[in-house]
Amino acid sequence: MLINFWYAAELSASLRDKPVKVRMLGQNFVVFRDSHGLARCLSNVCIHRCASLADGWVSGDRVVCPYHGWEFAGSGQCQRIPSLGPGQAPVPARVRVDSYPVQERYGIVFVFLGDLPEAERPPLMAVPEWDQPGWRCNTSEFSLKANYRRVVENALDPAHAEYVHVVGRRGQDPEYSVPAYDVQESEWGAGMEVRFRSQAGGFWKHFRDQSRETVAGTTFHGPSQFVTRIHIDRKMSVYQYAFDTPVDLFTTRSFLVSARNFFTAPLFDFVSERQNRVIVEEDRRVIEHLEPAVPFESSGADFSVKADAIQLCYRRRLKEWEARGWRIDTGRLAAVPPGTGLHVIPSPGRRELRGWQFPAVPLVAPTELPEGSQAARA
Ligand SMILES: [Fe+2]
Repeated sequence: MLINFWYAAELSASLRDKPVKVRMLGQNFVVFRDSHGLARCLSNVCIHRCASLADGWVSGDRVVCPYHGWEFAGSGQCQRIPSLGPGQAPVPARVRVDSYPVQERYGIVFVFLGDLPEAERPPLMAVPEWDQPGWRCNTSEFSLKANYRRVVENALDPAHAEYVHVVGRRGQDPEYSVPAYDVQESEWGAGMEVRFRSQAGGFWKHFRDQSRETVAGTTFHGPSQFVTRIHIDRKMSVYQYAFDTPVDLFTTRSFLVSARNFFTAPLFDFVSERQNRVIVEEDRRVIEHLEPAVPFESSGADFSVKADAIQLCYRRRLKEWEARGWRIDTGRLAAVPPGTGLHVIPSPGRRELRGWQFPAVPLVAPTELPEGSQAARA
């Protein structure tokens, strides 16, 4: 799992007047809305006696610890320790928890989990159709008991639909193959596209122009976000933007923004949601049972063919981001007996201030970037 990327934390609609506990990258966070309606995200453990801030409540712009009433602002700074009493010394500056940058878009609260200063942060994947006339977007959420890399590789895989999804013919088509494709790389990801004449399945088959080719492609952005663009025919298109958050090594929470340029009335959202659920359940039957649950480290440890080129590119890009020193050392974390230690995802504040109560998660040391890597070329 990688720090220094934006991750989807919660649906905006789920964040009302109570703090919410969110687990990401194997650690707990509290997400709350302050009195101005701004979403905030802090490390969840109070540095005093280690209570869960998410079990407390919101008071004005602060989240209040349920154990001793310590009040933390959105900056992470503690601003009130009730036991000090009135007229006592001010709260010491080092009484603070990590606070993470937040942006709220597309009906989702996104949190930057890492310590990079603003100018160096990889951007969030954009959804240009969100407020574009002629498009309708709806946001939904689901969970998978699978490692995030397994989830992303599944989405990037042009060969699985024929066997896993309702559009495919499961070996009944003697002409089936994955057409050759090019991988287009960009600063923070890569994508591909294939054209095929699909056996139209599902709801949309009644409306599409059956004589037309379908063009479909997927582009990943960072370690756990991707968009699948399906041009069903010349007029109808569906884009699926997935913001997948590693809850831990074995669980992925997926926030999906579906954009369509037909049946744009909101009342058709339920059709889009039903289609998405069908597809997710089809994938779930396979990817929750892959072994090992956490993919091999070496790209050559499982066997790949030509159609897997985009997945191999994804694996290579992950290695580049790991080489920057952004990978959490889950091996070292696993050596801590369960329930006996506490680590925190480092926030940008750790680069500016000294004196943090709890240690940051251990990271795999940076290495030389692999030759020919995107970052090395740039
Ligand atoms: Fe799939």
